Amino acid sequence: MKVLCFGSVNIDHTYRVTHFTAPGETQTCQDYRIGRGGKGFNQALAVRQAGVETYFAGMIGEDGLFVKEFLSERNVDTELLRIAPVPTGHAVIEVDIHGQNRIMLFPGANHRIDTPFIDEVLSHFSAGDIVVLQNEISGLPYIMEESRKKGMTVIFNAAPCGAEVASYPIGMADWLVVNEVEGAYLSGETAYDAIPEALRAKYPGVSVLLTLGGEGCRAVTDTEDISLPAKKVTVVDTTGAGDTFIGYFVKGLVEGMTLRERLSLATAASAVAVTRPGGGDSVPTYEEVLDSGLLSL
Ligand code: RIB
Repeated sequence: MKVLCFGSVNIDHTYRVTHFTAPGETQTCQDYRIGRGGKGFNQALAVRQAGVETYFAGMIGEDGLFVKEFLSERNVDTELLRIAPVPTGHAVIEVDIHGQNRIMLFPGANHRIDTPFIDEVLSHFSAGDIVVLQNEISGLPYIMEESRKKGMTVIFNAAPCGAEVASYPIGMADWLVVNEVEGAYLSGETAYDAIPEALRAKYPGVSVLLTLGGEGCRAVTDTEDISLPAKKVTVVDTTGAGDTFIGYFVKGLVEGMTLRERLSLATAASAVAVTRPGGGDSVPTYEEVLDSGLLSL
C-alpha cells in the first residue's frame, strides 16, 4: 500500500502580531519568519515523520527547490514534484498572541496542475493505495474521480473551503476531513454536533472526520461514531496542526489501527505541533510524539 500526497507547496511568510490587523490599520509585528508550508507539503511531511513511506506529487517554481531538497532529505519520494515556470505558491500568515492564525494564499505553481500531469502521477499508483488531497491545487475533481476509478482510498481535506468545493465530487471520497468552519460551510449547519450527520446525509457512504482544535475531534463512519477531547497544552501556533492530525491519522490507517487508536495518535501529534511555531516546521516525528507523554492508545 503506497501513500500519495498530491498537494500544495507554499513558502510561508509568518508574522507574529498582537491581534489580527484591522481594515485601515498598520500594525508593527513582533517577529517574522520564512518557512516551508502548504497543506500538501505539511501533510506529506507528517505522514513521513510518522514513519510511513510517502510519495509527494505537486508543482513548485524554481524558488521552491529548497522545499523539494528538504523533502528528499527526509526520504519523501519527490520524483513527481515538478517545476513550473511560475513562482512557488506562498502564504502570508498572521499568528496572534493566542496562537490562532489568519492566512492569505497566493497559489502560484500549485494551480499549474493539469490533466496530463494528473494522469502521469496516477499511473504510478493502483487499487489499495491511499491518496491524500487538500483544496490548494488545481484539477481536484479530476484527481478525485480518477483515483476512485483506480480503487485508491481517497482522503479529501476540504481546506481551504471556497465556493468551488461544493461542486467537487466529494461523494467519491472515502474520508472527508473538515474543521468547524469548513464543516459548517459544506453542511449548512453551525452547531458542531450537527455537522457530521449533515455531511453524511449529503455525501452518503463518506466517512467524516471533524477537527475542532481545542475542542477535540469526532469521526463518523457507517459503523462508528467516536469523539475524543484535545490534549491540554500551551498553544504557540496552530498553523499546520490540522495537517499533522491528518498525517498521523493516515499512519494509523496504513498500520491497521482501530479508528479510536488513529484518533488518539493524531490528537497527540497535533497537540505537539501546536506547541511549536511554523506550519511544516512544527510537524513532530513519531519519536517526539511518543516522548511527549501525550499519547494514550
Ligand atoms: O495548514 C497550514 C498551511 O496552510 C500553511 O502552511 C500555509 O501554507 C497554508 O497552506
